[in-house]
Order: sequence, then C-alpha cells, then structure tokens
Amino acid sequence: MENNAPFWNDSVGYIIYPETFCDGNGDGVGDIPGIVSKLDYLKELGVNLLWICPLFASPMDDNGYDVSDYYKINPLYGTEEDFKKLLEEAHKRGLRIVVDFVLNHTSDEHPWFQKALSDPSSPERGYYFFRKGVRQGDQLLPPNNWKGFFSTSVWENVEGTDDFYMHIFSKKMPDVDWSNPELRQRYYEIARHYLDMGVDGFRLDALAHLAKDLSFASSSLPADENGLVYDTSRFSNRPEVLDYLLEFKKEVLAPKHAFSIGEVGGGVSPEEALRYCDRQSGPINMVFNFDTAWCNGAYGSIDKNDEEIFTDVLELKRNFMRWYDACHEKADMPLYWCNHDHPRVLSQYGSTKYRNESAKALATILLFFYGTPFIYNGDEIGMSNAEYAKPEDFFRDVSTKNEVLSLRARGYSDAQITHYLCRTSRANARTPMQWNHEENAGFGKKIAVNALNENYKEGVNVLDQMKDPWSIINFFQYAILKRREPEINDIVLHGKLHILDFNHPDVLAYMHEGKENLVVIASLRPYETYFSFYHMIRDVVLHNYGDVLLKDHVFTLRPFECFLLKV
Ligand code: BGC
Repeated sequence: MENNAPFWNDSVGYIIYPETFCDGNGDGVGDIPGIVSKLDYLKELGVNLLWICPLFASPMDDNGYDVSDYYKINPLYGTEEDFKKLLEEAHKRGLRIVVDFVLNHTSDEHPWFQKALSDPSSPERGYYFFRKGVRQGDQLLPPNNWKGFFSTSVWENVEGTDDFYMHIFSKKMPDVDWSNPELRQRYYEIARHYLDMGVDGFRLDALAHLAKDLSFASSSLPADENGLVYDTSRFSNRPEVLDYLLEFKKEVLAPKHAFSIGEVGGGVSPEEALRYCDRQSGPINMVFNFDTAWCNGAYGSIDKNDEEIFTDVLELKRNFMRWYDACHEKADMPLYWCNHDHPRVLSQYGSTKYRNESAKALATILLFFYGTPFIYNGDEIGMSNAEYAKPEDFFRDVSTKNEVLSLRARGYSDAQITHYLCRTSRANARTPMQWNHEENAGFGKKIAVNALNENYKEGVNVLDQMKDPWSIINFFQYAILKRREPEINDIVLHGKLHILDFNHPDVLAYMHEGKENLVVIASLRPYETYFSFYHMIRDVVLHNYGDVLLKDHVFTLRPFECFLLKV
C-alpha cells in the first residue's frame, strides 16, 4: 500500500455502546472506567479504531443521543478526567478514538432550547425550528403532516401557546437549524474543543438530516391512520447538507486533520453519498449506510410468519456491490453488519443453532470485503437478540416504545408485538456485554440497564471463548490479524473485486484479483448447499469446519460454512 494511505485504510473498527459495555464503578451502568479496563482486551482482539456512542451529558431519553451539555461528560459515564484518561490510555496502545457527535438535534433540556422556550426573542430561538400550528375550530393542528423516525408527528406543541417545535426523533430531541450561521459556529467550537483534547475524529450522527425543506409544506404522499406522512425526503439528504459539511471541513476538520464518518441511513444512493465522501472533493472521509443491514425482510414484518423471514442473499450481494461499484475508485467505505440501531446480526442473518459457524461466516464476509470493517461490541462472541418476553422489556429504547404504542393503537396484541420486537428492536443489540460466565456476565456488580441475555452461561462470553481454540472470538482475532497483514490489506483495498456465481441464492462469494487472488466463500443457510469452484486453491487461510468437502470442482457447504482462500 502507498505510504501516504490514510490510517483508516489499515484499520479495523470496533463500535462501543457505553451504557452496556462494562461497568467500572458498580452502579449498574457501563462507563468510561469500564471501557478503559477493556483496552488491553481490544488491543489483543486486534481492532484499532474505536467508535464510542455518545458520552456527553444527557437525560438519556435516547440513551445519550439527546445531549444536554456538549462540554460535559455524562456523569453516568464518568468525568472529564476519565475521558482524558481514556484518550491517553487508548493512544498508548495505538487505538484511535472516534466520538459520536450529535449535531442534528439537542436534548430539550439543553440550555439553548431552554432559553429558546423562555425567551422567544433570544438568538437561541433561531437555533431551532419553531412554527405556528393551524387553528381549526377549537382544534390546534401541527404546522404540517410530517411523520418522524420514532413513529410520531415531527411537531410538538409548546404548552400554552400556538407554537410547535420540530423533532424528527423523540419529542425530547428538538432539531437544530443548520441554516443559522451562528448555530453552526457553536457546533464548530464544540468540535474544536474535543479535537484539542485529542480525539481522533467524529462519527457524525444523523448527518443526512441537517437540512430540511424550509417551506414546511405538507407532503402529498399517502398518509397513515393518523393523517401523518413518512416522507423522509423533507428532511434527508437535501442539497444544503453538502454546503454545511464543506464549511465544517474548512473551518474545523481540515485544519485539525480530523477523521470523520457520517451516518446517512437508508435513504441515500451511493452516488449521492459520494458527494459527501469523494476522496478529492468530499467534505468527510466515509459514510455509513444501512443497505446491507436489513436484507432479511424483518423490518416492518409484524404480519409475517417466521418462515417468511430469511436472508435475501441476492439482495445482500446487490447492495454490497452497488456501494462497491460506486465507491471503490473514488471513496473509502465503512463496512458493518450491525450497530446499536439494529438487532444482532447473528439473529438476523446467522443462526443461534449454528452460532459458532454463522458468526464466523459473517465475520469473514465483513472483514475481507472492500472497505474499513467495523465490528459491533459482542459480535466477536456471537451475541444474539435479547429474547425478552413482553414489550415493556424493550422500553429503554424510546423508538421501540413509541413503535409499541403505535402498534397497540393499530390493534396488535402484545404477543404479536413482542414476537416482532424480538426480530427488529434495536434494544436487542443493547444488552450487557458478556465478559464471563459469572454473576451478571462480568458486566458489573449489578445491572441497571437492559436485562442480560442468559446465554452467557452457555459459552457466549469472552472468557470461556478465549480458552477454546475453535471459539468465535479466536476466529475473529486470527481473521483480524490476517485482514491487517499488509499484503492482504493491499489486495482487499486495491484488487479488483467481483462476486462469484452472483445468482447463487444461498452463497455469498467474492474474489479480489491482485498479486494473489483472494476468495471468500460463505454459505448463509442453515442447510447443506453446493458451490462450483474451478480455481486452483493455493492456501486455505480461514475455514470454520474441520475438513473440506470438495469433489469434481464442487464444494459441499455445510450450514454457514465459510472459507478465505488464496487461489
Ligand atoms: C443514532 C441513533 C439515534 C438517532 C438520533 C442515529 O443515527 O445512531 O441511535 O437514535 O441517530 O440521534
């Protein structure tokens, strides 16, 4: 690889959800000292770029994505001293820290919003979107019919007035108005503050929504039973987002050489995303999209039977390749299966019955595709969905809570809703990290967050797996080591990638052509399948079964069997 390649080209990322990662002070909630205590573990695992979900002061309506003071560390997580220690200890070990920067909204408890409410003539009023409601007889209606991401209107009435403020997430998360130059400067100051402290970069939360349709006209798309319209085009990927980011780059990111990775969600095409992350002209370094996160039909599947939920392998391949084709010569690309906003990937695309095999197959696909892989905490031990028994068990997640209220209003029973949430809720990925098989899975002295998944007693934990040479964690560690070998990294990033047997409905296989050819073959099925292969195998680098079934150029692939081959 060229010597001037940016650091993320040679990095394997790891996503930490601080609330449930590790509790250092025994109060039942994960925290920064807990993260610090696991840095040696992360170093040993082989990852080197840590994205940590928000650590700022927050009333925790959306678990930290509702920030009430950007200059203060959330007391639940620790102090500024703890944060500085985290940076220092991480850097000592060669681990970079990317903080989650929430800049589309604040908490309603943030002083800016409080001031905006108490003094409508204050500059802070102009930081948010306040609009008058519409009087219809004795009814006061919101300014328009837009529906937000958390199943409600985007408008909340300011009590005792005809005013409403806009929030595309929860009502405790008012959106800020990036068309206001003063507001933008406030955010730049915050970013500089953390860069000066030593953070390596930012994950820019909900970046795609920074600009809104300022006409605020109602949408004419079909409305739901409450007359609301989920028309994300009104607040997603609008042209001004690029202008704001270019300014952010000029004023903050470029002078400080900061790394930036934005979240653009599912509403953006790769071509549109390139405007943000093109290596030459884009304001930021990479963008996360959701296109490979929901290819099993689970999303919106409350009326479906379990048999109808299975991985659409062809769709998965199409989505991987759509992004690869658009990006590989022009932009760097992050790869992830799941984060704190999705159910566990093992439950989505893998299988709890074939936990060991499927976790390894998913790891192999992710780690060797073109891009910078990001592993979500717990995936390295094959953690799976929460298996909660009732809707309330998922309620620490405000978006799930709102969804339940809306599903109940539509007449679904709690049993149906629970079944659906067990497939889709993001609370599934927010159970405490399973460190060992002892009390509370080694997370801490007590648990004051989402309940544990009991499978920590059955080997789904770090310590037990470390002792087992065939465990998921040992596979991850070896695979990461391989991924970061300069020759392999070079082929992965610079070799030409194509899918093998694109139309195979069960197998995801791809080849990088380079000085050596590197091939991944992975079955995504819990049953046996066949795969024709005519290349000469020079080396089996990774494999998740003890023997190879290959005859007359046809592999017999057992459930979730996978290979990384040199051919
Ligand atoms: C975060 C979510 C959060 C939302 C609002 C997303 O992109 O990843 O967890 O609920 O932004 O901040």
